[in-house]
Amino acid sequence: MKKKIVVLISGSGSNFQAILDHCQQGSIQGQIVSVISNREDAFGLTRAEMAGIPGHYIDHKGFDTRVEFDTALIEQIDAYQPDLVVLAGFMRILSPEFVRHYSGRLFNIHPSLLPRYKGLNTHERVLEAGDPEHGCTVHFVSEELDGGPLVIQAKTPVNTSDTMDSLQTRVHALEHQIYPLAVSWFCADRLEQTQEGVLLDGSLLPASGFQLEN
Ligand code: GAR
Repeated sequence: MKKKIVVLISGSGSNFQAILDHCQQGSIQGQIVSVISNREDAFGLTRAEMAGIPGHYIDHKGFDTRVEFDTALIEQIDAYQPDLVVLAGFMRILSPEFVRHYSGRLFNIHPSLLPRYKGLNTHERVLEAGDPEHGCTVHFVSEELDGGPLVIQAKTPVNTSDTMDSLQTRVHALEHQIYPLAVSWFCADRLEQTQEGVLLDGSLLPASGFQLEN
């Protein structure tokens, strides 16, 4: 049975597209049943329309509190009874109620080697710090911003000629590899979030997650 996936976006949706491509090619035993955006002009909604996937726009500015917005979001998501909820560039802080509701079936991708550089402007901060390497991480979501047990990371060296743009391009390309892979594991029932950490095929992953080798 294919797993049902709901994707939340705020922008371009290139990670949504990467996951969709793998679903269509059969390397993910899953089906994206809906895409939800908090921005009306998100290109990801156009991608969803082109793929014939129901898209929804819920404007967070139309709600007085975070919890009220999250409640509306939960209602829309749960209409699809998803097995997995995927945050793919969804630029909202989620309430503890939301995170608890989807505990063990909520993924996020972040453009840094977590736990380093939570929050925004990760490429800029890596360059400022003079780090020798950068990358991206897929993790199960906990109540802490950009927190939760790590599933998979991919790294890239940082060169002296690198700019924010060049780093962003390389990290994005890595994101498009690790997010479909993590989703494919989940959909094949190979991945589990436990009290001890993340299990892949029954074995505990290191705290830094599975390391994708290039
Ligand atoms: C990605 O780089 C993702 O890692 C980042 O937003 C971008 C969305 O790109 N997410 C975060 O910063 C979450 N804290 P996309 O819309 O092309 O998939």
